[in-house]
Amino acid sequence: MWILKIMCGIFGYIGKGPAANNIREGLKRLEYRGYDSWGIAVLEDGNIQVQKQVGTISKVDSEKLSSKAVIGVGHTRWATHGGVTEINAHPHISTDGSFTLAQNGIVENYQELKKDLINKGYEFRSQTDTEVIVRLVEEKLRTEKDLVTATRLAFNLLEGRNTIILLDRNENRIIAIRNGSPLVIGIHGNEYYLASDTLSFADKTNNIVQMKNLEMVVAHPTGIKKFDAVTGKEVEVIIEEVDIEDSKIDKEGFQHFMLKEIVEQQDSIINAVQYTDEELQPLLDAIRQAETVYTIGAGTASFSAGQIAWALRNIAEIKAIDLKSYEISGYRNLFSEKDIVIVVSQSGETADTIEAVEIAKEHGVKIVSIVNMLGSTISRISDLAYYSRSGPEICVASTKAFTAQVAWGTLVASALVGRSGEYKKEIRQLSSNLKDQFTEDTFDQYRDLAKKLKKKEHFFVLGRDSNYYIALEGALKIKEITYKHFEGFAAGELKHGVIALIDKDTPVFIITPTGEQKADLLSAAAEVKARGANVIGIGVESNELFDVHLKTNNIGSTDPISNVIPFQLIAYFLGVELGTDPDRPRNLAKSVTVK
Ligand code: M6R
Repeated sequence: MWILKIMCGIFGYIGKGPAANNIREGLKRLEYRGYDSWGIAVLEDGNIQVQKQVGTISKVDSEKLSSKAVIGVGHTRWATHGGVTEINAHPHISTDGSFTLAQNGIVENYQELKKDLINKGYEFRSQTDTEVIVRLVEEKLRTEKDLVTATRLAFNLLEGRNTIILLDRNENRIIAIRNGSPLVIGIHGNEYYLASDTLSFADKTNNIVQMKNLEMVVAHPTGIKKFDAVTGKEVEVIIEEVDIEDSKIDKEGFQHFMLKEIVEQQDSIINAVQYTDEELQPLLDAIRQAETVYTIGAGTASFSAGQIAWALRNIAEIKAIDLKSYEISGYRNLFSEKDIVIVVSQSGETADTIEAVEIAKEHGVKIVSIVNMLGSTISRISDLAYYSRSGPEICVASTKAFTAQVAWGTLVASALVGRSGEYKKEIRQLSSNLKDQFTEDTFDQYRDLAKKLKKKEHFFVLGRDSNYYIALEGALKIKEITYKHFEGFAAGELKHGVIALIDKDTPVFIITPTGEQKADLLSAAAEVKARGANVIGIGVESNELFDVHLKTNNIGSTDPISNVIPFQLIAYFLGVELGTDPDRPRNLAKSVTVK
């Protein structure tokens, strides 16, 4: 059976304990990376005790976990094909019980390795590629006495992006190796946290040690040592103090993170545009000197990349082209040292986007990034790293990170023509309008609309020009949360085919600007209305063609930000009405760290 592990969270702890509870707390903060099963392994009374379960760790009582152990590792997993079982949950224990291992990534050559191991007499209990790593380490232990060396040698046989963490019973230590999937170490006195992100231990410490690809860490109760995973040579441990945002990890009275994060946009759009012209100067110079500016991202970030390119073209008359991260190989021959790439990512860990950056770098392209998560891979491999400063985004579907990216990109475009101050003012005004918009009265309007729409299966969203990417992002948001068929189109596409799908009562959302594009969008509204569609207009002004009007309060160049918010609210309230979990939509995870 083909097992596809999309992404997972890893957390290890050594300190004064209780290890299991600390790991549980860390895994709860990592659940955005996967939440279909979890496992915790601790060292207690000289043995490794493993607890695994299908479901989310958030629902597990701390009393059910060991309270004595002071060292352990844990994992929160997410799978699509088969295998959401206790047996497949990590960590996976060695045959003799002397070590246990958890992984984030995909062993691309796992079938060959497994075949070879089976031929050598090894048996497998789970369907995972992770167990292949366990058996491979056992195989290496036949000739290598030291578990650190055996783990390193086994790891070097793996293809793909993988990060592993291993609990060693005999030496009371944790071994971890990073390649591709993230790993960072937090240090607080004699307590060590080894985790997939800094957020998972943000409440404990802001002293961190970054792990580079192909680095190995060996953590004991008395300290940590780092090694080159290929050569085994020791490398220097550099402790950095970073500014980790620990705020707002709880829902603060909101029923879901999604609604909380939608509302937080009133502040996050302001945070995103706090860069001064001086701070932006190196980027402005690079853009001015570039032959072509490419913007890249995946999923929602690809739509912000599109919007940023739009702003560069239309506000600053810059030759800017947006590309999908996963389609970049088709453009590689165009890249030259005269170009720059602006990489957009919330997590900074998206595998498709990292690979796109690597391809661009091979061609000497300068890399500039706008990322939300501090200290992420993408920020570190960029020539210039900017942050969208939205704070932790916990809901799997991106909302505030998207609008922050768009706000930042529009600020850059405005700064290129000396208008950054004006744009910041518009953003402040929009922020205050949003404060008035995020009220129970508004939410009730969306609740009512959700009730009316809940039985419909097919929906369309039309936008154009500055709102084209908003139509795509709006449709994606609603798909993710409601599992309904929502399709976003350029309004111009309507007569070229899409109109065939419009039938009596088909809901069609039309993003209607006030400027010169207004007439075109109203014509589109009339055309679908003539075929019986139920027209839902989004924009500042109402119109007799609209069956429902979702009012926005757009200011100047802030239109795209303002217009996406109704879609976020429909996604949320329709999801709630349909009984989905808006924070954890099925089949998705926050950070797609493998290809
Ligand atoms: O972390 P990134 O911004 O790089 O993630 C890219 C996409 O995977 C992400 O935007 C995805 O589309 C979300 N589910 C959007 O809500």
